[in-house]
Amino acid sequence: MQDLIKRLTPEARITVLTGAGVSAASGVPTFRGNDGLWKNFRPEALATADAFGRDPKLVWEWYHWRRFRISTCEPNAAHHVLAEWGRRFPNFKLITQNVDGLHEKAASAKATVGQAPVNDVIRLHGSIWEVSCWGGCANSPRRWRDETIEFAELPPKCPYCDGLIRPSVVWFGETLESNVVDRAMRAVHCDVFMTIGTSAVVYPAAAFVEQARRQGAFTVEINPEATPASTTVDLVLKGGAETVLPDIAACL
Ligand code: OAD
Repeated sequence: MQDLIKRLTPEARITVLTGAGVSAASGVPTFRGNDGLWKNFRPEALATADAFGRDPKLVWEWYHWRRFRISTCEPNAAHHVLAEWGRRFPNFKLITQNVDGLHEKAASAKATVGQAPVNDVIRLHGSIWEVSCWGGCANSPRRWRDETIEFAELPPKCPYCDGLIRPSVVWFGETLESNVVDRAMRAVHCDVFMTIGTSAVVYPAAAFVEQARRQGAFTVEINPEATPASTTVDLVLKGGAETVLPDIAACL
C-alpha cells in the first residue's frame, strides 16, 4: 500500500477504471457473481439491439426496473473518494463502465462554482439516464437526458417523431463511441492505473489495465474477489471499494 500512497502525488497522472462493484455498496446490483443480474436475466434477451427490435416492451420493462432501483440509490464512500480525487489531483481521469450516474452524483454533491464539469467522467457504456431515438429520426438530438421514472407508456415514444426511444447505453454487439474510446485510450497513458470493482472480462475495458502496465503505469486492483487482472497488476488490494478507497484516502 505504501508503494501506492507515495505515487499519488499532485503531479501524477492517475487513472481509475470502475465497474459495477463500485456501486454495490449503494445497492446497485452487479452483473456477475452470485447476486449478479446475469444470474437471473439473459443478456441476449435484454441488452442487445436484436432483443429491442424483437420485444421493446420487455427490454424497456427491464430498464424501467433498473432506473427505478438506481433512483433510490445514493453514492457510497468509494464514489465520494473518487469525486474528491477528481478535485484534488489535476491529472485525474475516471473511466467507468457503469451507467448508473453515481460518480457524477457524488461529484456534483461537492462541486463549487468554477470547478471542472462533472461530466468529465469517461462513460464507456453510456448512461441509463439518457435516451435516443431508436429510428435515429432527423429531428432528434443524438441523445438526450430523460430521468423519468414512471413513463406514461412502455415502450416510451420519441417526442420528435412518435417512434420509439431506447436507453442510450451500449448493448452487447454494439460499438463504443469512437470519441469515448479515444478519451479512454489517452487516459490509459498514465502513471498510476487503478481497476476497481470490475470483473475485467468485458472488452475493451478489460484490456486497459494491461495496456497501462505495458506503457509503464503502476497498476492496482481493488476487488474482494480475484479477477483475470489480479495476476498481472503490481498491487492487489482485496476488499470492497467503499472501505479500501477511504483507507487509501486517509493515508494521503
Ligand atoms: P461485474 O458484475 O462483471 O463485476 C463486478 C465486480 O465487482 C466483480 O469482480 C466483484 O467481485 C466486484 N465487487 C463486488 N462487490 C464489490 C465491492 N463492494 N467493491 C469492489 N468490488 C466489488 O461488473 P462489470 O465488471 O462492471 O456491460 O461488468 C462489465 C460490463 O458487463 C458492464 O458494464 C455491463 C456488463 O454486462 C454492458 O451492459 C454492456
